[in-house]
This record gives sequence, C-alpha cells and structure tokens, in this order.
Amino acid sequence: MIPPMTDLAGKTMLVTGAGGGMGREVALALALRGAFVIAHGRSAQRVQATLEAIAHAGGKAEAAAFDLASLQSIRDGAALVVSRHARLDALVNNAGFWSGPREVTVDGFEKTWAVNTLAPFALWQALLKPLRAAKGRVVNVASLEHKNGRIRWEDLQRERGFGARPAYQQSKLALVMLTNELARREPGLVAMSLHPGVIATELFRNMPWIVGLVIGAFCPSPQKGARCIWRLAAEAEFAGTTGAYFHRFKKQLPHKDARDPASCARLWAVVAKQAGT
Ligand SMILES: NC(=O)c1ccc[n+]([C@@H]2O[C@H](COP(=O)([O-])OP(=O)(O)OC[C@H]3O[C@@H](n4cnc5c(N)ncnc54)[C@H](OP(=O)(O)O)[C@@H]3O)[C@@H](O)[C@H]2O)c1
Repeated sequence: MIPPMTDLAGKTMLVTGAGGGMGREVALALALRGAFVIAHGRSAQRVQATLEAIAHAGGKAEAAAFDLASLQSIRDGAALVVSRHARLDALVNNAGFWSGPREVTVDGFEKTWAVNTLAPFALWQALLKPLRAAKGRVVNVASLEHKNGRIRWEDLQRERGFGARPAYQQSKLALVMLTNELARREPGLVAMSLHPGVIATELFRNMPWIVGLVIGAFCPSPQKGARCIWRLAAEAEFAGTTGAYFHRFKKQLPHKDARDPASCARLWAVVAKQAGT
C-alpha cells in the first residue's frame, strides 16, 4: 500500500549514492514529497538522470559530487554542502560497496571499510552543524549481513585472508555500532540504521553472475527497497526512534556488539582517528 504523502516542504535532505539503485528512488520519493534533495554521486554526471527525473516530477534538487573512497573528497564535498545549507533535516547514508578482490583507497584503507564505514562517519561528522541546526536525522543503510559480522580489531583492514563477504559484514556491523554511538553522543539528532531487504540492484556486480541473475529475477525492485529508507528519513512515526536498528519497517535487536556501549565507544575512537576528526 502506498503510504500517505508526507509534507516535506522546507526540508533539505542529502542522499548518498543517488545516481542509481535504491538511492535514486529515495531521492525521488523525498523530492516528490516536497523536500529539497541534495543528490550525491561520485560525479555530477552520475546523478544527472536523477536530477532530471526530480525536475520532471516538479521537485527540487541539486547535485553533490564527491568520492566516498577519499577522505579529502568527502571533506571538500561536505564543506560545499555546509556553505550552501545552514540546515540539513536528513542525511541518508545509502551508498555502499561489495568488493571484488581486495582494493585499497588513496588513504590506505580497504575499500569496503572506507566506503561503508569510514565515509558515512566522516560525512555525518562534517555535517554536524547543519544537522544539529535542524535537529536532523541520520539514516544509515546497513544490512542484515551485519549480524554475521565480526570486528577484527587487530586487522580491521582485512590484510590477512581477505574475503569480500566478511569484509562487507564487518563494515556494516561497524556502521550499526557507530550509529548507536552517534545516537548516544548527539541526543538532539535521530540516528538509525536499517536493512532494506534483499533488493535487485547493482550491488552484486562483483559476485558470480548467477547470483545477480537470481537476485534480479526474484527480489523486489529498488523502488520497493527504498520505501523503508525514505520513510525512516521523513515520517513523524520515526522521530523518536534514535539508536534503533530496523529490518525494513520493524525494529529489531542488532548484533550483540552493537548493543554493547563499550564496544561502540571503542570503535568510535578508532574510526575518529582514521577519519582525522
Ligand atoms: N541490494 C541489496 O540487497 C542490499 C541489501 C542490504 C543492504 N544494501 C545496502 O543498500 C545500499 C544501497 O545499495 P544498492 O543495493 O542500491 O546498490 P547499488 O545500486 O550498487 O548502489 C550503490 C550506490 O553507492 C554508490 N557508491 C559506491 N561506491 C561509491 C564511492 N566510492 N563514491 C561515491 N558513491 C559510491 C554507487 O555509485 P556508482 O553507481 O557511481 O558506483 C551507487 O550509487 C548500500 O549501502 C548497500 O550496502 C543493499
């Protein structure tokens, strides 16, 4: 059932990875409900079609172009957003990455960790001023996979025996843990994480082709997957759910490490150092 329209007029919302997959649908849904959307992609060209779709539907949006695999690029991109917007009602950290063979970023981090964990952290830290001004929401798209994750404290960059799946699981577990620590540190904000379902997108491009084929054939569309993401960012019903982890619309207990404030605080300290904040 299509939920009632929510009036988001006057609200500004940033969606990362808005050039395709669920991010594009989240950006469109928020804009159609009246929000001014900052559609992030690694280049302005990557979000051009999203901006055109929003304009065509009568919505308002602008592009924000930066590479989430580079801390300097994130800092520069965020600084531009802060210079243009005094208030940010929602930051949707949607962009994500499932690796092929192990890759290392310009900053020397394993790429899954850099894009899925370090980048959302660096971005919300850089956008705290406009987020605080709006008492905004930070919606972090994690994954059910986080429940099988293990924080390899002694080898976060997975230099030993790299596997794409354990790296993804660790990165998403870390994201849920950091979300919960953000909720504790910033009681004026609403910080949440979620699993959107298994959705037919390009996320699986580095997996064996048969996986993509099966997921493409049997799993819900990005539009359907996006619904829980934008509703968490937009709807009044989720204004009091800071520190919660959702399986689609349903609150669920996350991995035990994400329920342990000491582990979450420990990880925050490590990631803050990595991000240079
Ligand atoms: N699909 C699922 O079943 C599923 C399940 C659980 C969780 N998730 C999570 O849902 C979120 C959305 O993913 P999706 O399924 O919609 O996959 P997707 O179609 O692959 O979208 C991922 C987005 O992230 C962007 N991105 C990746 N690396 C980037 C970088 N270095 N800099 C800037 N942007 C970057 C991509 O941009 P480009 O197009 O330019 O690469 C793309 O827009 C992800 O966080 C994913 O982990 C997905």
